[in-house]
Amino acid sequence: QHAALTVDPAFRIGEVDPRLYGSFVEHMGRCVYTGIYEPGHPSADGEGFRGDVSELVTEIAPPVLRYPGGNFVSGYRWEDGIGPRENRPTRLDLAWRSLETNQVGVDEFTKWARRTGSEPMMAVNLGTRGIDAARNLLEYTNHPGGTYWSDLRRANGTPKPHDIKLWCLGNELDGPWQIGHKTALEYGRLAAETAKAMRRVDPTIELVACGSSHQKMPTFGTWEATVLTETYDLVDHISLHSYYDPLPEDRASFLASGVNLERMVEAVVATADHVRAVGRHRKRINLSFDEWNVWYQSRFGGEASLDWAEHPRLIEDEYSVVDAVVVGSLLISLLRHADRVRIACMAQLVNVIGPIRSEPGGPAWRQTIFHPYALMSRHGRGQVLRIEPTGPVGDTEAFGDVPLLDATAVHDEESGAVTVFAVNRDQHAPLVLDLDLRAVPDLVAGEHTALFDEDPEATNNAERPDRVTPRTLPRVRVADGRVSVELPALSWNMIRLR
Ligand code: AHR
Repeated sequence: QHAALTVDPAFRIGEVDPRLYGSFVEHMGRCVYTGIYEPGHPSADGEGFRGDVSELVTEIAPPVLRYPGGNFVSGYRWEDGIGPRENRPTRLDLAWRSLETNQVGVDEFTKWARRTGSEPMMAVNLGTRGIDAARNLLEYTNHPGGTYWSDLRRANGTPKPHDIKLWCLGNELDGPWQIGHKTALEYGRLAAETAKAMRRVDPTIELVACGSSHQKMPTFGTWEATVLTETYDLVDHISLHSYYDPLPEDRASFLASGVNLERMVEAVVATADHVRAVGRHRKRINLSFDEWNVWYQSRFGGEASLDWAEHPRLIEDEYSVVDAVVVGSLLISLLRHADRVRIACMAQLVNVIGPIRSEPGGPAWRQTIFHPYALMSRHGRGQVLRIEPTGPVGDTEAFGDVPLLDATAVHDEESGAVTVFAVNRDQHAPLVLDLDLRAVPDLVAGEHTALFDEDPEATNNAERPDRVTPRTLPRVRVADGRVSVELPALSWNMIRLR
């Protein structure tokens, strides 16, 4: 079968904000402790952070890292994580029924994130706390000195401000599971007043208000409308969260998860623009898709199954080839909405539904989903183009007919290179993709990299860390502005044309 698309740099969706390739570090399970941080590990640096994990993070190069939660932040006292480590209290983490030792806090995390080339995206606690804790934290991180909190930061070993620019106003406060769950109006008012106080401390920050925890929330849509009505002039982004559970009995629908993600994006854009119209606002609110990934949620026993351990093993999903193809496809969906989705964070970075896995005292390795994520983060920059694909469709239980080709293209205006990202959702047959490149006559050839496998359930693990890696397929040559590329059955592909 054949599918086709046209590449023309004149037809643009928008420029990719590099923050679309962000990730998320929560104090949950082994994401922080024995994930990024393990002082006794042979690869640990002087600050106790694992060198092997940091190297893999650098390979992904996530421009932003959301921190410290997640559900965790809604019960967190940030002051517990500063000052001499031996004085830091151990607390009950009510979100994950775990013990939090506070050995990593805002100072250590921010410095580590910057060493790996990432900017922190800090969340404040609007569950059990509020305006005062948030403005104090911001004073601690961003004020130069001469006040109680900024001088405390200096005394704690950070003379210059951390200067953290991006802040989340709480986490998933629409969810009954959240500590400090609120109605939309309660949250909207608190978020507005917290934003106001934070902007007075530092007017240069960007703020993200909480949207819905997922599309099936009964308040989805009305939550966003109420929250944005209360906060419109005070915030810059509204958040979205969505996880996809690989149900083996319906792989076709799972492979089409991007359709669901795009519906969510379009619904939130419509809601934000409705509030804009009603309030006669000039600016537009953008989207921060700050938690997304594949998550085997049906395998998770829930918080109640946990028993106050320090960094327990929690949702350490081992990802397959199919999962990696879906992750690639979700990123394609996000790119297609680059005009409004300015920030996105794959959740989470290490061990907890992460692209990176690590064993205490042992190795760190790349999961299957690492590969499309790292390659798209590196090469999916520039202008996203409107490519008008055509081709065959396949039936799915969840979404009806869905195109077998899922694709997007980015144009790097400086080098002139065009990179096409394409998923073949056909589980059994290759798909020939015909590219019309006549509008970019300088393109002569391209490298084709693909992720696929004879066994779609194959995974990487400590014993076989490189069982699944991207393969280099034969170079493609452009003739008369056209080229055809064969996409293997059930595959994620990157075609870099120059
Ligand atoms: O990423 C895991 C959890 O999923 C986060 O803590 C929460 O925000 C979401 O429900």
